Amino acid sequence: MLLTALSGQLDETILLTGDRIPEKARGDASQSGRALPWLYVRPTTVDHVRIALGACNARRWPVTIQGGMTGLAGGANPERQDVVITLDRLAGIEEIDTAAGTMTLRAGTVLEVAQKAAEEAGFLLPIDLGARGSCQIGGNIATNAGGIRVIRHGVTRANILGLEAVLADGTVISSMNRFGKNNTGYDLKQLFIGSEGTLGVVTRAVIKLKPMPSGKATALVALSDYRHAVALLARAQADLPGLSAFEIMWARYFEFSARAEGLTFFDRGHPFTLIIEQSGAEGSADLETFLGAVFEAGLIEDALIAQSEKESRQFWTVREGAAYDRLPDLVNLDVSIAIGRMGDFAGACEAALLARFPDAHVTFYGHMGDSNLHIAVAAGSSDEATLHAIDEIAYGVVRDFDGAISAEHGIGLLKRDFLRYSRDPAELALMRAIKQALDPHGILNPGKVLPPP
Ligand code: LAC
Ligand code: ZN
Repeated sequence: MLLTALSGQLDETILLTGDRIPEKARGDASQSGRALPWLYVRPTTVDHVRIALGACNARRWPVTIQGGMTGLAGGANPERQDVVITLDRLAGIEEIDTAAGTMTLRAGTVLEVAQKAAEEAGFLLPIDLGARGSCQIGGNIATNAGGIRVIRHGVTRANILGLEAVLADGTVISSMNRFGKNNTGYDLKQLFIGSEGTLGVVTRAVIKLKPMPSGKATALVALSDYRHAVALLARAQADLPGLSAFEIMWARYFEFSARAEGLTFFDRGHPFTLIIEQSGAEGSADLETFLGAVFEAGLIEDALIAQSEKESRQFWTVREGAAYDRLPDLVNLDVSIAIGRMGDFAGACEAALLARFPDAHVTFYGHMGDSNLHIAVAAGSSDEATLHAIDEIAYGVVRDFDGAISAEHGIGLLKRDFLRYSRDPAELALMRAIKQALDPHGILNPGKVLPPP
């Protein structure tokens, strides 16, 4: 029996059953998880992961991998009979190489812990997202997380030099490359980045750090027209050295979120509000000049430059929109749409959703500079039929606009049946062939990412 086999090698602080399994194992932040797993494994070493997977693979036992549980695609939701492997205790920074500017760390390290350690060593860890306080670097890698600094530093994939992963059969693949260049055959780490726990379990990684920018300026900018936002982005990319965020909020999002936080910024409402951030030695003088010029050019209606860290935090609080997380039945989609068509997309998507759910709260926001739009929908119910209808309608419009149904949250369980909206049959066949090669018995995160053939 599996538990007997595991108990011989892993002790009871690692193997949890029954009442000892924490409630958070039920599912991620999409709140779509229903079942607690049968066995909850908390390895503290890579060897524990190797032992657990080897035993599960030999018995064809399904395994779900869990990290900080901040995902929004149901990718870490277990089934009742599953074994869960959580990376929580396989945590900690192993080394910061200040000459090379790299950090070597274990998968369960909380992102913010790693960010702070980098900062103390005089570096910037370029990955950043709202869930920083509880998401883990292993999960960021497994989902190829996006976030709010992508316009400057790229997605997680762009910042990972090397990693170690354990395959379904327990084989440890150590691709702990530390070099900026390493052209020695297939770049194996890329198989695991963004694989959402379906190809292996990421256990350690090497991150490329960046120099810590010496100054930062943040502005909240009001616009009347989406086309002006497009022109503003082009000008910001050309004229604002160190542009590190370009985030957009449609009026309904901005007003709902600001009201919930008790914050007022402008003396009247505007159709669009943006956060523009510049990082680097240049500081706020450049940003002020830039905003003056684009105001003269008629692209913006109003702007505020944060005068303190507190004020810049207030801008970001509205953007991060904790009030939305508290909105009952909220669905948060993360699509990619060509920047020039995002305004039309939002109009078409809102009309399609309201035609089916006339009383729904529908609004848009996101990482405009990365083509990544978020759709927030609360249709008054989160039963499966409603959620399915929201996805079907929104992803149908995404397909019409040649978009991608996930920009940064991944496919997980919730988007699996819509993957074909963004990937063609040959691509899906190649994905299945890779899955078959790495996990021939299909034990790793079964049912996630790839739709049944
Ligand atoms: C954000 C998350 C939802 O951008 O991706 O706030
Ligand atoms: Zn986002």
